[in-house]
Order: sequence, then C-alpha cells, then structure tokens
Amino acid sequence: MSHKVIPISRRSVLGAPVPRHDGGALADTLGRPMRDLRISVTDRCNFRCTYCMPREVFDAGYKFLAHEAILSFEEITRLAGIFVGLGVKKIRLTGGEPLLRKDLPRLVEMLAPLGADLTLTTNGSSLVKHAAALKLAGLNRITVSLDSLDEATFRAMNDADFPVAKVLDGIAAAANAGFSPVKINMVVKRGVNGDQIVDAARYWRDSGHILRFIEFMDVGSTNGWRMDDVIPSAEVVRRIGEAFPLEPIAANYAGEVAGRWRYRDGAGEVGVISSVTQAFCRDCNRMRLSTEGSLYTCLFAQQGYDLKSLLRGGADDDAIRDSIAAVWRARGDRYSENRTAETAKKPKVEMSYIGG
Ligand code: GTP
Ligand code: 5AD
Ligand code: SF4
Ligand code: SF4
Repeated sequence: MSHKVIPISRRSVLGAPVPRHDGGALADTLGRPMRDLRISVTDRCNFRCTYCMPREVFDAGYKFLAHEAILSFEEITRLAGIFVGLGVKKIRLTGGEPLLRKDLPRLVEMLAPLGADLTLTTNGSSLVKHAAALKLAGLNRITVSLDSLDEATFRAMNDADFPVAKVLDGIAAAANAGFSPVKINMVVKRGVNGDQIVDAARYWRDSGHILRFIEFMDVGSTNGWRMDDVIPSAEVVRRIGEAFPLEPIAANYAGEVAGRWRYRDGAGEVGVISSVTQAFCRDCNRMRLSTEGSLYTCLFAQQGYDLKSLLRGGADDDAIRDSIAAVWRARGDRYSENRTAETAKKPKVEMSYIGG
C-alpha cells in the first residue's frame, strides 16, 4: 500500500488530552463537527468496477488483508460506542462489499443499540439473501450502487459479468423488507454510461426510491481518472430537466453530500453528488475507519492514524477517545476544494480499503 499509517497515542503530538464529556463540541481546525462515521468492514468485493477496483490491479495476485489484521465485530462496536460518545450521529457500513463480511447482520445487531442512524452502502448483489435479516437486526437505511440499467454497460462497468436483474431483485428485496426508499448511486463516466442519464431518471422516477448521480472522482491511485471523463452535475440536472422539469429542494441536514432536486410533476426526487465540480468540504463532518482499524479524516487522504495498535495494546476507552478527538481537532482536510491536476495524480488510499 502506498500511503503512510502513523501511530497515535494518548500523549500524541497531535494535541493535548481532550477534556471529558465535551459531547458535540468537538470541532476540527475549520470548525466542522464530527457527525458521520463510515466504517469499512472488508476490503474485498465481488465486483471489479473499473472506477474503483480495476481488474488489472485487483487481480489474483493482489494482497487483501488477512483475517487477523481486520477489526473484529467486538472491536468495531467498542470504537463505534466511543465515536457516538464524541458526537457521531450516523454510522455507515461500507467496504469493499460489506455483505461479503461473514455474519454482517450480527454486527448490525451489536451497533443498533448505540442509537445512531445506522446505514449500509452495498452493490446489492446479495441483498435478496440478507435484506430481511438486516432489517431485523436494526439497520435503518440502505444505499445500493447501480451504474446502468443496460445489460452490456452494467456488466462492463462491474467487470464481473454481474447482471442488472439481480441488483434490481436486491433493491426490491430491500424495499419489501421495509427499507423504502432505497437510495440508488449511479457513478457517471463520460463515454461509458453518460448517455444513460435520462434513461435512469425515467426508470427510477415514480418508483419511491431516490436516484443519485455521482461525479466520477479521482479517489485512490488506480482508476486512471481524467477530468475529461467527468460529466458535471450541472449538465446532469440540465439534461434530466429537459425531459422532466425539475426544481431544487433544501438539504435534509447540514453537510448532506447530495444536492436535491424534485420532479415538478410530483414523481419524487433525484440527487447529484458533485465532489469534483462543486466541492462540499466546507461542511464535511465525516470520519472514516478502515478495515484494519486506521482513521482517515478525508476520502482522499494520503495517511491514516493507527488506532488498532492502541486498541490491541490494551488502551482504555478514555485513551482511545482522547486520540480520536486529537486526530479530529488537528484535521484541516479540504481536498476537493483544492483539487488540481497535480494533486489528482498523488498517491491516495483506495476507496475499497478506506470505505466509500
Ligand atoms: P445519506 O446519509 O443518505 O445522505 O448518505 P450519504 O450521502 O452520506 O452516503 P453515501 O454513501 O450514499 O454517499 C454517496 C457517495 O458520495 C459516496 O459513495 C461517495 O461516492 C460520495 N461521498 C460521500 N462522502 C464523501 C466525502 O466525504 N467526500 C467526497 N468527495 N465524496 C463523498
Ligand atoms: N468516483 C465516484 N464514485 C465512486 N464510488 C466508488 N468509486 C468511485 C469513484 N472513483 C462509489 C460507488 C458506490 C460508492 C461507495 O462510491 O459506486 O456507490
Ligand atoms: Fe465493489 Fe462498490 Fe468498488 Fe464496485 S464501487 S468495486 S461494488 S466496492
Ligand atoms: Fe470531506 Fe475530504 Fe470529501 Fe472534502 S474531499 S468532502 S474534506 S472527505
């Protein structure tokens, strides 16, 4: 792996020990609170989406994490409890493909009592099997990635020959289990699925679910990102609006990543996630915990902070809490706001490892 993971300790150079019980008052150097924790539960995936885990890199020789290296459910739950104590209100389980982690509903069951908004981002390939158990375990919401409704395009984008119908079945299973509305993420790449924006909008409007278009991002170092492949959200909204008139609607909460639009004819809403053309770092309240227990303060981070050594070295909750708080207090990330052709080429952590 090309990035650094630096050790943290209670007497970290990052800052003095943090006062106890500061509740929601924890803020980074830009005054942003920590509200959203994204936990990657596995770095593995059964898809090889070209923009995320290109097959040439993530091939048979790729070294995924060993079982001993990844956090156990007990370790994740203990950390999550500490994060909630520091003000986190939403926990998102990601990966890789989180449903590849054995017994994931058991982790959901362990996290649910913490009282955070508990959500999952999945490729949907095994939702038919797991949706009901996830609901029973206490999961609140599900987001499914589906980049195309066209069979050939989808199979080429997931590069695992996975059919559209199975993901649609997974979305239906999630809805039947009580997860409606499901959010559908569609990463848009010019020349790949860029011609299918209006088709997707047409398919999902009036379905009760919420489609969101994501600008192709320069996350990681392996996906061959080029600005030319990005279709700006403004163009996405214009194209949809020409077919189905739209009007903007307010964010659900401060720091929501998706810009929201409503069909004027009452057929529901669509979202656009414009990390490249309209960066939303100013309100970014997300902390990421990698599969092996390192903290990342930005999706585009070049270094993480090793929390696992502290955890496995016998540190008590207060020490861990102080270390997490110190990392957050020292945070000044605003990668997307400062993106240049140069920074886009720098080595960064892969999204499958850090969690989307
Ligand atoms: P809600 O809780 O439903 O609002 O979901 P969310 O938008 O927090 O979660 P989701 O995982 O669905 O986010 C959608 C996508 O936005 C992610 O998969 C990423 O592609 C992108 N995204 C999320 N957070 C960040 C971020 O901090 N920075 C950037 N650049 N992109 C992000
Ligand atoms: N650009 C934009 N979105 C991405 N995702 C993964 N890699 C990228 C990228 N390079 C999306 C996935 C999924 C979510 C976790 O992030 O499609 O919906
Ligand atoms: Fe897997 Fe999601 Fe990455 Fe695709 S985007 S390779 S489904 S983790
Ligand atoms: Fe947050 Fe980094 Fe994304 Fe900006 S680029 S929104 S700081 S994760």
